[in-house]
Amino acid sequence: MNIKDKMNNRFRDLEGGLFSKVTKADVGEGAGNLMAQGYDIMAWADPFFPDPSIPPSVKETMIKAFEDGFSSHYTMPIGNTDLRRTVAKKLWEKNKIKADPSRNILITPGSDSGLIYAMMPFICEGDEVLVPDPSYPSNFLNAKLCGGVAVPVPLKEENNWQPEVEEFEKRLTGKTKMVLISHPNNPTTTVFRRENLEKLCKFIVENDLILVCDQAFEDHIFDGIEFVSPATLPGMWERTVTVFSISKGIGLSGFRVGYIVADDHIMDVLYGGAVNILGATNTAAQLGAITALEDESILKENYEIFERRRRLAYEVFSSIPGVKVRMPESGFLSWLNISRLGTSAEVAEYILREAKVLVNEGTPYGKCGEGYIRIVHGCFRDENRALNAYNRIKDALTRLAKEKGIA
Ligand SMILES: Cc1ncc(COP(=O)(O)O)c(C=O)c1O
Repeated sequence: MNIKDKMNNRFRDLEGGLFSKVTKADVGEGAGNLMAQGYDIMAWADPFFPDPSIPPSVKETMIKAFEDGFSSHYTMPIGNTDLRRTVAKKLWEKNKIKADPSRNILITPGSDSGLIYAMMPFICEGDEVLVPDPSYPSNFLNAKLCGGVAVPVPLKEENNWQPEVEEFEKRLTGKTKMVLISHPNNPTTTVFRRENLEKLCKFIVENDLILVCDQAFEDHIFDGIEFVSPATLPGMWERTVTVFSISKGIGLSGFRVGYIVADDHIMDVLYGGAVNILGATNTAAQLGAITALEDESILKENYEIFERRRRLAYEVFSSIPGVKVRMPESGFLSWLNISRLGTSAEVAEYILREAKVLVNEGTPYGKCGEGYIRIVHGCFRDENRALNAYNRIKDALTRLAKEKGIA
């Protein structure tokens, strides 16, 4: 008997690394095994990984949360009331989104669960989801898990990885139901500019589509680039589900707290199914999240660190022969064009072997990721350790470039 024959075809092809190698760094035990062997992991978008980095104010809240004992209990499946109020305040001040904490906000166990839950009510068998390529790997897979079909929409390096509405228009069919974007984008760090978002949103409204917008990386935007939440653009509030996280800019990925924001009619359904699909989010972590969102010094300190890191990383990576890299626009990722040195798999493999660093191949981010690798330059608390890893990557790739005759 092949047990997989009994499975739903949305799930049958998933591979967890038990029977074959999986290239995604976050699947199976691969990364954990490499870490145990002393490799540096710069393939998880997790600030300061693996070093301790709980801000003191959050730590204090968590200790209190355990001392007073209530944390052994559930919160409501839609999330702690005070946290939803804190989120509403943040949404108004930072995103210009007016959200009622009792009607428009749902706390989720991380934003990964929020991302697929945001799609589930909408995607019927065969529905098409337009997904920029490259983008977060889950964006392609989630469409399939929901029964739909992800339709990649290419972004181009020469256009600074901005979305071009013509590329979306070309792929519009009678089955198109949704546009799904990560904004700022992972892996490119691109902040989608207002004029491009306005065109894209006009296309969404005119064609009566839904937008799911993943804003996990919204906290740190550099060079004064304007950040626009698409839910605030004309006609978008009632057709947009925005998904947020405290894992990235705030750096509390282990807390597993995210939140979904949407109009009452969408949220009524999401509230209705929350216990079935999400369970409830960790009670103590939600208390920690309140402090994390209220303590402005956390984002401020992280911003300063990531601003410095992106420059250091850019300086090192842009000096490697045969490698092209743009200054990151947001967050703590570097996206390197290594196409002159080999395929994305070959170069990632070479770095693993020669520099003892796990980085991401570009291909899980979509077909347009071939010829690229992603490096999480925001890893490690200690800047010297980070620099040491950047330089090991540089030394390895410089040798590879020499082998290829690139000076
Ligand atoms: C673009 C993007 N969105 C969402 C997530 C999910 O993060 P979390 O579930 O920790 O909130 C990730 C994690 O890597 C991500 O890169």
